[in-house]
Amino acid sequence: MHALVIGGTGRTGKLVIDELLHRGHEATTLARNPSALGGPLARLNIVEGTPTNLEEVRGAFKSHTPDVVIVTLNAPRASDSPFAAPISSPTLMADCNTNVVTAMKEFGVRKIVIMQAFGVGESWTNMNCMLQLFMKKSNMYLQYDDHNAVTEIVKESGIDYVLVRPSRLVESEEKSVKVWPGHGKGVPLMASTSRVGVAGFLVDAAEGREWDHSEPVISN
Ligand SMILES: NC(=O)c1ccc[n+]([C@@H]2O[C@H](COP(=O)([O-])OP(=O)(O)OC[C@H]3O[C@@H](n4cnc5c(N)ncnc54)[C@H](OP(=O)(O)O)[C@@H]3O)[C@@H](O)[C@H]2O)c1
Repeated sequence: MHALVIGGTGRTGKLVIDELLHRGHEATTLARNPSALGGPLARLNIVEGTPTNLEEVRGAFKSHTPDVVIVTLNAPRASDSPFAAPISSPTLMADCNTNVVTAMKEFGVRKIVIMQAFGVGESWTNMNCMLQLFMKKSNMYLQYDDHNAVTEIVKESGIDYVLVRPSRLVESEEKSVKVWPGHGKGVPLMASTSRVGVAGFLVDAAEGREWDHSEPVISN
């Protein structure tokens, strides 16, 4: 399998690339700053550019047409604090995914796997009310609105998708993940997911068809 990773310089994106290569796959990534990837790797094709620019997204597809796209973008704030000011457009992820979906259609690529967050889509209804309040009162609602816009774009596009919604991210080494239904009913209040676990599940979802057209919530 050859996967195009959008967001490959990020904390989860780098782990996705590691996991793809570890499983014997090939990867291309589109990077604003290729040096963030720490140098060349066998079976990794690095294309310089940004997903906000459609021509540069097309460049990544031209460089090597992938079998599948994996998106691990973030719409960053000034820090990881939920109250930190946003430092990107409120439609960053929607804009980037619009470009990616456009290129996928042009190049005949059928499947996208996107990292989102527990609380996006129908999983919002089963998020604990304390967490809902926290999301609404902090700046995190901006990311949720953006992820929800991405959901609409991808579902309307007609391409095959898996929208993966991890609970709170942590840096543990736990690789196994529990997969919850899209409504997220039963996810514990303090549930968390390791980035390495998310990366493994994103690659699982890209490799197989079991999760196609679904929006699983995951936790460790
Ligand atoms: N924090 C949590 O507890 C939590 C829980 C569940 C889900 N999530 C989701 O996890 C995702 C974040 O994952 P992460 O922490 O691994 O991300 P991250 O380390 O912040 O990486 C973000 C990626 O997005 C790219 N990016 C950011 N701003 C960009 C811009 N303006 N233009 C182009 N590319 C840009 C970065 O590229 P550069 O390297 O070039 O900047 C990088 O590749 C978010 O979608 C979030 O909603 C978070």
